[in-house]
Amino acid sequence: MPDSAYNSLGIHRWMLRDAIRNEAYRRALTQVVKPGHVVLDMGAGTGILSIFAARAGARKVFAVERTDITAVARRIIASNHLEDRIEVMQSDLEDVDLPEQVDVILSEWMGGLGVDENMLAPLVIARDRWLKPGGIIVPGRVTAMLAPAHVLDLEEGLDHWRSRPHGVDLSVIAGITANETFATQAELELDDLIAKPQIMWTHDAYTCSLEEADRSFQTKLRFEAARDGKISGFATWFTADMAEGITLTNAVGAPATHWGRLLFPITETIAVAKGTRIEVELRCEPSAPGSCEFYWATRIADRPLEEHDTRPSRQSHRAQR
Ligand SMILES: C[S@@+](CC[C@H](N)C(=O)[O-])C[C@H]1O[C@@H](n2cnc3c(N)ncnc32)[C@H](O)[C@@H]1O
Repeated sequence: MPDSAYNSLGIHRWMLRDAIRNEAYRRALTQVVKPGHVVLDMGAGTGILSIFAARAGARKVFAVERTDITAVARRIIASNHLEDRIEVMQSDLEDVDLPEQVDVILSEWMGGLGVDENMLAPLVIARDRWLKPGGIIVPGRVTAMLAPAHVLDLEEGLDHWRSRPHGVDLSVIAGITANETFATQAELELDDLIAKPQIMWTHDAYTCSLEEADRSFQTKLRFEAARDGKISGFATWFTADMAEGITLTNAVGAPATHWGRLLFPITETIAVAKGTRIEVELRCEPSAPGSCEFYWATRIADRPLEEHDTRPSRQSHRAQR
């Protein structure tokens, strides 16, 4: 699998050092996996979640992973003396042939706003092929949220590209940046949100159809500024229901995770007064394996409609190379 960031350790190091994430999975798996269970770890990466499942009592864990990180997973599993119970299978989940059905499917399939790693469809396919009737899925439900926000990191970034640094006009980069999603690890507080967050969509892993998982995800929301302030874009996050009483979230105001926040910029940060109408339409379209393209449009008070799209600028970079 030459083309995936998941082939090498870099991104896995981030995930493995995210104690909030790891503990949410460890606690959920300790709760739901019972001695003797057979488990499918979908997109097993370095195998840490398979190890949690085996330690919770699983008789067998099928750790299915498409990238070459399986070589590291095998070594970690051996170091933890679990190679007799965890079978690493390097394969696309859609093609894998398991020798038996499973009691539990576990997967860490979430991008910064849930569905943006394009892994919901493989999960649904795996569920329909391999999960026993009455089986358990971890997480069982994932909800994506959005709120208009003032994010200094984003404001300063765009201002910099428009400031003629060193006397050079770099405003082309401002135009490109405003059409890209902006991932930030900056700490965001509820006070950075200018209106109450709203749900974009919810996916129930037990009932979601392949058709629903495979098409573009879209939302149209209308907010009213809750106070005077500034808006530089839209902050998004997810909340995953892992097991009874256990959730995992990268929400604004929650303890920091490796996901940080995925932001959708507007062209420039503007001041808004309490009561200002803020409308946004956002579409997330599955593209290459592991990634999505985004379109977002916003109308704030009586300002003209602003449209942003990740596709044209990505395509023009490619064309120029
Ligand atoms: C977010 S990472 C999680 C890795 C690991 N489970 C963990 O929690 O540390 C998702 C993993 O799923 C793998 N993956 C994505 N889609 C897949 C598919 N259709 N079949 C098999 N593996 C897949 C990726 O290569 C990546 O390693």
